[in-house]
Amino acid sequence: MTLLDGKKTSADIKEEIAIEVAELKKQGNRAPHLAAIIVGNNGASLTYVNAKVKACERVGFESTLIRLPEDISENDLLNEIEGLNTNDAIDGFIVQLPLPKHIDEQKIIMAVHPDKDVDGFHPTNVGKMALNLPTFISATPFGILELLDRYQIETSGKHVVVIGRSHIVGSPMSILLSQKRTVGNATVTITHSRTKNLKEITLQADIVVAALGIPEFLTADMVKDGVTVIDVGITRVEDATKKRGFRLLGDVKFDEVAAKSEFITPVPGGVGPMTIAMLLKNTLLAFTRRLG
Ligand code: GUN
Repeated sequence: MTLLDGKKTSADIKEEIAIEVAELKKQGNRAPHLAAIIVGNNGASLTYVNAKVKACERVGFESTLIRLPEDISENDLLNEIEGLNTNDAIDGFIVQLPLPKHIDEQKIIMAVHPDKDVDGFHPTNVGKMALNLPTFISATPFGILELLDRYQIETSGKHVVVIGRSHIVGSPMSILLSQKRTVGNATVTITHSRTKNLKEITLQADIVVAALGIPEFLTADMVKDGVTVIDVGITRVEDATKKRGFRLLGDVKFDEVAAKSEFITPVPGGVGPMTIAMLLKNTLLAFTRRLG
């Protein structure tokens, strides 16, 4: 069993980006600038956004964190977004999801200018991704592609089973891995809560991407020997023995599945850190595109 070390791989990518940024600055350019909007006080979301902002500092980017109250109106949030769309100093920005229930998430996603949409969530960018045209690929699926690439895991002709059909992970992951691309050319089955005989399907998988958000859902009896497992889950479960009062669980029952796996991502330290590195990569792409 080999652990797919997202923490180390992410650090490697950040180092590569830092070198590129230093070179850009030496040529007289300003630093790339990422902004992040966060609405409300969701603990997990705050942790993720803070990690994104901190990562910007690490690679020499400028960053701006915009914290807005839980009860902000949809209109005021749309105005904030328009401010970032038209701010020339900002290369790319994200609106951390989920948003409070009174705000229409899709409306917000559509308000972000596609050229600054480093999350790759805007329909224009999702459409380009689906057509295999150059665009911002969402950070989580992009990070998984990069991890598979750097560990030289063959995907061509392999059977990939994706569990979960979210717009952020499951859906784009299944599209990307089936495409004609370096990490791709796989036969992909996308499964979800209405799938019948899931175990029958996962037992046929060479690679399983677990992205359904149910802790320890994938168990050893559901995978074959020598499988590669990508665990996208990251659920906080109460744990009084931990200082912060919780621990993080993936969608995979790690110990027993790891025993049957050739490659597997840990939680934490697998897919999570990769998403941050890929967001930075997208921000650098937004910046260099604007340079022309
Ligand atoms: N919430 C969970 N993942 C993401 C992400 O990649 N981007 C944003 N904006 N919100 C998220």
